[in-house]
Amino acid sequence: MSRAMNILWLASEAFPLIKTGGLADVAGALPRALIKRGHSVRLVLPAYQSVFQRLEAHGIDGKAPPLKPRGTLILDGREVRLWQTRLPGTRVIVWLVDIPEFSRRVGNPYVTAEGTDWPDNHRRFYTLCRAAVELAMGRAGLDWKADLVHANDWQGGMACELLAREDKETTRPPATVFTIHNLAYHGLFDASALQELGLPPGLWHPDYLEFYGQLSFIKGGLVFADRLTTVSPTYAQEVQAPAAGCGLDGLLRARRHHFYGILNGIDAKEWNPKRDVHLVAHYDHRHLEKKDINKRALCSQLRLANEPGTPLLGFIGRMVEQKGLDLLLGTLPEFLARNDIQVVILGSGMADYEEAFQRLAQDYPAQLSVQLGYNEALAHQIEAGVDLFLMPSLFEPCGLNQLYSLRYGTLPLVHAVGGLKDTVIDNDDPAQANGFRFNSATTGALRSTLKRALALYRDHPEAWRARQLNAMGGDYTWERSAAEYERVYEEALSDSALA
Ligand code: ADP
Ligand code: GLC
Repeated sequence: MSRAMNILWLASEAFPLIKTGGLADVAGALPRALIKRGHSVRLVLPAYQSVFQRLEAHGIDGKAPPLKPRGTLILDGREVRLWQTRLPGTRVIVWLVDIPEFSRRVGNPYVTAEGTDWPDNHRRFYTLCRAAVELAMGRAGLDWKADLVHANDWQGGMACELLAREDKETTRPPATVFTIHNLAYHGLFDASALQELGLPPGLWHPDYLEFYGQLSFIKGGLVFADRLTTVSPTYAQEVQAPAAGCGLDGLLRARRHHFYGILNGIDAKEWNPKRDVHLVAHYDHRHLEKKDINKRALCSQLRLANEPGTPLLGFIGRMVEQKGLDLLLGTLPEFLARNDIQVVILGSGMADYEEAFQRLAQDYPAQLSVQLGYNEALAHQIEAGVDLFLMPSLFEPCGLNQLYSLRYGTLPLVHAVGGLKDTVIDNDDPAQANGFRFNSATTGALRSTLKRALALYRDHPEAWRARQLNAMGGDYTWERSAAEYERVYEEALSDSALA
């Protein structure tokens, strides 16, 4: 255990206030684990309209955290209001940064209903970072100053750049750690944004924020943070090579001595088959037969045939290329045609994928259920109800659904990349194997691995059960990873003390 630190944790989403993907799960859980280890944490989020709505909705259950105005900041002559609340159900103090571009806008935090980026994203997230820096420096009148700022993804990158510009002699700025949750999203803007945001012209250089003629916010973190992390050891290696480096592999190689891969954990309170509020039947490794009650309930809710002995497969996720949906579309039809499987798909995203899956469901209405949209309760019911969880992602920095699957005794079938490779074990050792993996992103590899999994399910129920027990016995909690983050924070702090 290290000495207690004041940590400002900056994210663009956090469960249960606002969520589009795994970053929200991490932001909803890691700060809590850090508080348990004795640190003082402030979670800084944009004050999206939906955050206020979520807080009100929690009020209906009688456990709404209070929402208090905490004054205003003036940034470039503009008023930025600050609010304080708590992450529902936790002790985590949340500071909300309120500008109309967040609080008056309905919909997804990053993209319009048509799926294009909000045109003022550079201003919105730069303002978020400016406000976070004022809060971290103790200049917002809230009687708290950060020792360390932990910023996440491109939306938080500019906080690291801004802090690097603070005068070290007179202001002693906090140390910075930047985490890559997904290197494919860079936060790229037109060159004119540099001037519009009033950034120093010297930053327009490939060593700093310029990226092939555009302004890159993620480089604000990658170049300027004291330490970098990403969300699995394997992804930390992968992004240092051109294939997964998204044009930033050279920079990451240059920073490799200050760059770590730390596996995500899961929120063990939220994702626990013994207590999950969304399930019809609770279970654990001693009562695995009750998992089947959830399978039957899910099938009847989705109007699937639920033929005894037929394995039920699931997929949950953003419908984007990353998630390997082309591999699924190229492989599932032949298994559906033979009536070997039943499948439930939950997700939303690119219209082409949504339509392709809907068309397939029309051909196999009793075997394939496609649920478009975001549905937290159904996500839990799928994790508990299906036998096999599909994650053929082309790349996957960590992935959380395979971790939820393991905890729920649902065997993950994954492409062996990033965090999937670090968490899913597929070998002949009955004491180790907890899922299925394939090595190349081809329909052939997915097909043969799926056949192997189905054969095990059908012909070797004992071996299947052994894998389930191994899966459920793993330690996927945040405690271990929080201790690793703490070590990185310590390193960053001791460096900045020397500077
Ligand atoms: P990513 O962050 O790349 O989207 P992860 O596997 O890390 O992938 O995390 C995705 C998270 O979002 C999981 O908690 C998953 O259950 C959730 N999720 C994704 N799509 C949906 C959906 N349509 N409905 C409910 N939950 C979803
Ligand atoms: C990203 C990644 C995912 C990871 C999540 C949380 O969205 O795509 O693999 O689990 O962030 O770190």
